Amino acid sequence: MNLPPHLSIQNHHLMIDGCDTVELAFDYGTPLYVTDETRIRDNFRGYVAALSAHYSHIRVLYAAKANGNLNIIKILAEEGAGADVFSSGELHMALLAGMKPEHLLFNGSSKTEADHRLAVEKGVRVSLDSLDELAQLDRIAGEAGKVAQISFRVNPAIDVPTHPKIATGLATSKFGIPAAEIADAYAAALACKNVVPVGIHCHIGSQILEIEPFAKEAQVMMEVVEELHRMGVKFKFIDLGGGLGVAYDHHGPDAPSFASYANAVMPVCTSVLGRLGISPEIWIEPGRSMVCDSTVLLTKVNSVKKAHKTFVNVDAGFNLLIRPAMYDSYHEVLVANRADEKPAGTYTVTGPICETGDILAHDRELPDVVASDLIAVLDAGAYGYSMASQYNGRGRCAEVLVRKGQAELMRRAETIADLMANLVTPSWLS
Ligand code: LLP
Repeated sequence: MNLPPHLSIQNHHLMIDGCDTVELAFDYGTPLYVTDETRIRDNFRGYVAALSAHYSHIRVLYAAKANGNLNIIKILAEEGAGADVFSSGELHMALLAGMKPEHLLFNGSSKTEADHRLAVEKGVRVSLDSLDELAQLDRIAGEAGKVAQISFRVNPAIDVPTHPKIATGLATSKFGIPAAEIADAYAAALACKNVVPVGIHCHIGSQILEIEPFAKEAQVMMEVVEELHRMGVKFKFIDLGGGLGVAYDHHGPDAPSFASYANAVMPVCTSVLGRLGISPEIWIEPGRSMVCDSTVLLTKVNSVKKAHKTFVNVDAGFNLLIRPAMYDSYHEVLVANRADEKPAGTYTVTGPICETGDILAHDRELPDVVASDLIAVLDAGAYGYSMASQYNGRGRCAEVLVRKGQAELMRRAETIADLMANLVTPSWLS
């Protein structure tokens, strides 16, 4: 199995940036999310270097939904990242992390009145998804005596090779305004008193491992930009949306590099911008590729059961990592306390949740697994903890941050008291 440079095996144990996962599990308990800070910084810098090689006005906005821990957002704020925020909660956290309002974009197809008010109050640009949203924001900005800067989200009608639940730029998707109707939307925005269009936004989907759809998207976007520029839109940013997929299968090929993404996408943009004589910022909004490989989920084996197959019952299930159950996603698993031992059998790693679908990994070749072994689920940093729940009365687990051999808690585990913390009792039950 190919391991990325921050993961290694020493004295039979899986290490993450100099920290022994077996010791971490002992010190902090399991289940446990462990995240390597340096890997996140490196991923961010990789994107910046790749894009900057083509054009100097670029900005990388971190898609905060991928991993919403405030500490992670702070790390990226320190690096100079902005953020794609999809809720008032994410907006608050991005500002709290130290990101500048002008480096944020408030995305979403179903924003509330309160969301729009918050964006206006904080001076955060809004990506609008409908003419209804335009009318609402125009009114809200007017009431606040402000002018809101906006983009529209374009639906480029591009079929992408990914799970249908996370393909967002299909003609049939709920997101965006069809490219053919986008000029009318901008004309409507230009006619508004309290709204000014300054950008354009698109996001074709997630976990895309081919470059071509991104290049195609850039092409559609730049055709639209050219048309809108002629209509009088003064572009400050062009936002190409989320980033590359990642190679969850460590026995297969690598994911495309940040450079190959930039090499395919940036020339499409810069050639049109050069012709138009304008130099807006080019934004991207990667989530997964920034944080996914930074994190392992450590989970202890409660018991092993030999039935029609051999089940390894661990203490983390889809309450903590829903991706395999929700998208049939593949995550590598290894026995962290005997990481260099040869496979001895075929095992299916199952969680503690009362659903048949609570399977983290199907039919994997692993060393002889016994109770108390420690399983590491790799590439758990994106849409892992951020999609975790308290299902089956299980508090969410702790998160630890590591940096060059140092480890500290960045979120404590929830307790039984936390499960009840926001309950109130209707009067007739008291
Ligand atoms: N921008 C927008 C508007 C988005 O909706 C998303 C992801 C991103 C950026 C970041 O995309 P990324 O770089 O991470 O591909 N829970 C699913 C993924 C959902 C993606 C939602 N939107 C999963 O676990 O695969």
